Amino acid sequence: MKKIDIGLLAPGMVLADDLIHRSTGVVLLYRGTILNANLVSFIHQVASTGYCLIEDPESRMAEELDTTGEVLPLRAIQQKSLLPRIVLPYSRGDDYSYLEFIDRESYRVYRDAVSAVEYLYQGAAQGSLDLAEAVSTANNLCLQVIKDPQVIMQLAVLKAFDNYTYTHAVNVAVYSAVLSRYCGWSMEQLKQITLAGLLHDIGKVDIPRSILLKPGKLQPEEWEIMKQHVEYSVNRVSTLDKVNDKILLAVSQHHERLNGSGYPQGLSGEQIHPWARILAIADIYDAVTTNRVYRKAVLPHIGAEILMSIPEELDLDLLITFIHNTPFYPLGTWVRLNNGEAGRVVQLYKGMPLRPVIEVVGEDRQKGRLVNLTEELSLQVADILPRR
Ligand SMILES: [Fe+2]
Ligand SMILES: [Fe+2]
Repeated sequence: MKKIDIGLLAPGMVLADDLIHRSTGVVLLYRGTILNANLVSFIHQVASTGYCLIEDPESRMAEELDTTGEVLPLRAIQQKSLLPRIVLPYSRGDDYSYLEFIDRESYRVYRDAVSAVEYLYQGAAQGSLDLAEAVSTANNLCLQVIKDPQVIMQLAVLKAFDNYTYTHAVNVAVYSAVLSRYCGWSMEQLKQITLAGLLHDIGKVDIPRSILLKPGKLQPEEWEIMKQHVEYSVNRVSTLDKVNDKILLAVSQHHERLNGSGYPQGLSGEQIHPWARILAIADIYDAVTTNRVYRKAVLPHIGAEILMSIPEELDLDLLITFIHNTPFYPLGTWVRLNNGEAGRVVQLYKGMPLRPVIEVVGEDRQKGRLVNLTEELSLQVADILPRR
């Protein structure tokens, strides 16, 4: 490991320690992060001077020698460097008070965001969309994502609120912000894409409720009407003053697919704006992991598999970044395993967020053994449980 002036950071370097914001104590980037040009400029934006600890490539290579003296392939080395543990900010036996404190704040922000979206949609239906409310909601969600994506993700994962239309907008905003954060985008970009997430389906207020809420498969002619929500969303968002062109592109292209199979224009490849590519991933993921009248929700790891099964439709770099980094089973989430045991997520390995470490808790509420899903491959999450 070596200490380096942040002015000398370069793409390809690997952080040897968490990068913590000096005044807020917030972890900006985790140990093991491989820097790219965006992340380097992100670091320069948040800290003008200072030092970082980075891995020394020579000592890393020496550490990676196996017993036969053979150097592991580069791919294996990179994979290994992506696996530092993220551990809960308390140890076993603590009273979880820290987590409960941040939980309460995130819960309030998430609940307020769902209410704000309901207010925005109802206002839009009556012809007035309150941009100031949308912007402040997006900014509050963004601050939570920057502070700790795990906690706000927990609320999105738990699906604790009922109305799909409103929670979908909030969840797409949260997932888009989480993904943009892992891409190393600036705070301003994060706020803007969160706003795009909140507004992306606002045109659904113009779709007849008989189609929007139909408890079954849509007929082809009903589906054509449903697809028009994109055009309606663009109409509504474009009436707002001071809305960035990129937000409009993200909204108008969120159902376009890289292979040209999307709608409404059937755009492909470079014709689709990166912000729309982010919204597409967030939109599909939330749709498949949420219960609908006509389809049961799938678990997060299956949702991730569904995304991975359509790589030709999505931006592969963004998809990999999403799959590698998103805390699909955020710390503190209660789950049941396929062997019947229940417990809470207490550790995550960066790069393997689909296989968390679970602390099993018995019926008597006694904490038991740790089950590491990165090692016990026959076990997997079978259900997400309400909070205890
Ligand atoms: Fe949509
Ligand atoms: Fe959507």
